[in-house]
Amino acid sequence: MENFEQLRTVKFYSGEVTPLEMHKVRVVQKLNLLPIEERKESIFGAGFNTFLLQNKDVYLDMLTDSGTNAMSDNQVAAMSVADDSYAGSASYTKLEKAISDVFNQKFFLPVHQGRAAEHIIAKSFCKPGTVVPMNYHFTTTKAHIEMMGSAVEEIYTDEALKTKSSFPFKGNMDINKLNKVIEKWGAENVAYIRFEAGTNLIGGQPFSMANLREVSAIAKTHGILVLMDISLINENLYFIKVREEGYQNKPIKDILHEMLSYTDFSYFSGRKVSCTRGGGICTNNHDIYMKMRDWVPLYEGFLTYGGMSVREIEAMAVGLYETLDFNVISHSPTFIKYLVDALDKREIPVITPSGGLGCHLDAGQFLSHIPQTQYPAGALAAAMYICSGIRGMERGTISSVRDENGDDVLADVELLRLAFPRRVFTLSQVKYAEDRIQWLYDNRHLVGGLEWTEEPPVLRFFVGKLKPIGDWVDKLVAKFRQDFGDSL
Ligand code: F0G
Repeated sequence: MENFEQLRTVKFYSGEVTPLEMHKVRVVQKLNLLPIEERKESIFGAGFNTFLLQNKDVYLDMLTDSGTNAMSDNQVAAMSVADDSYAGSASYTKLEKAISDVFNQKFFLPVHQGRAAEHIIAKSFCKPGTVVPMNYHFTTTKAHIEMMGSAVEEIYTDEALKTKSSFPFKGNMDINKLNKVIEKWGAENVAYIRFEAGTNLIGGQPFSMANLREVSAIAKTHGILVLMDISLINENLYFIKVREEGYQNKPIKDILHEMLSYTDFSYFSGRKVSCTRGGGICTNNHDIYMKMRDWVPLYEGFLTYGGMSVREIEAMAVGLYETLDFNVISHSPTFIKYLVDALDKREIPVITPSGGLGCHLDAGQFLSHIPQTQYPAGALAAAMYICSGIRGMERGTISSVRDENGDDVLADVELLRLAFPRRVFTLSQVKYAEDRIQWLYDNRHLVGGLEWTEEPPVLRFFVGKLKPIGDWVDKLVAKFRQDFGDSL
């Protein structure tokens, strides 16, 4: 695996493995790095929830790659020729052509973003008494499926939740578990099997073509539909090309078409896959298309825009073609690998092998002195912002829910995700992140837990507020000043 990935990197004379940008920066946005005392004020103001920080107070925004990727010059140019018509827009025709060329899918339903696709799919296929087996859930996906009364069964492999692993396809489904779920529920009660490319919540981890092929064959024998969430397909595609035997010399388009040939339908968040906004549902099956079609004008907008602006549609069409460019899809995985490998070498607990969405620190190990009920991943997200101005996202128990008794459902893994929006950060910024993570790790004993002050009942991680338990923040700030003097 290691060799494949190095094959794709420009070699440096020094022998150092350094990812190289295959683009130049022509439009820039000014950044602020506040002094630590002001960062402390900001995190208190945000209720220790990084979602509630103001971007002006953030140095590197690594909250998400959703809607924050850099667009190419061709995407920006396409936006200025958009055809603004409610129905039958020429911009939409271009998008349909891109869906056909890039994904090899005939029918398309546009929506305003990925979760809107999840809403329409769940509304059309899920009902009480049915189940959706999946490699791993995503927050909004699970909420939509459960709101329709269906159950979610996660059938990940034993490797998936191991922090330290060299297994190249941690996003695979466990075939035995899949067979058991089908047996338990009965094939007729499986609404569909959902494969998430670049499995988000376990660290942006890919599945292999071999696993997808096997799952699809099982689904076919039982007459079960296969749905793929292709929001993070770019990086899953990259990993199949570089990590899976037999794919190194295959054109990206052929790999992508093979992946989608194992699905009955798929959907995406354009905020990720095409570096735009918007989203959509794709299929080659007319019946599946018809089952969902009429919900689009009701919930999203007419069938030729689905809640997206035509400018977005133009940029999306161009962005989808760009996913066929190896330089585009390799950018974030190689930058993420750079940071993950550097941290791993220093024995800082980080998810390995590196995935495609971001660098995921294992907060459970990083802050092993903090019990899960005091939210180590949330505490690490806050401490990271305080010591660096870098905004990451809690992906642990705060992102989970409470059970019927009001107790926290403890997350399988407590992660701090530092997302890498595509083509946004430079290598020196990545090195800054590495440096501050090292400092925080050396001072981790100073960090304490969090408790709620305002806890919303649904998707509480978005807008809920917390406070630190004890005075650990002051101690962390004092140590920073002691070590860094008057540095920012
Ligand atoms: N599927 C995956 C795999 C995602 O990562 C996301 C969003 C969605 C669906 C929903 O798409 O945001 O356009 O409605 N992930 C974002 C994130 C929110 O930060 O990881 P959306």
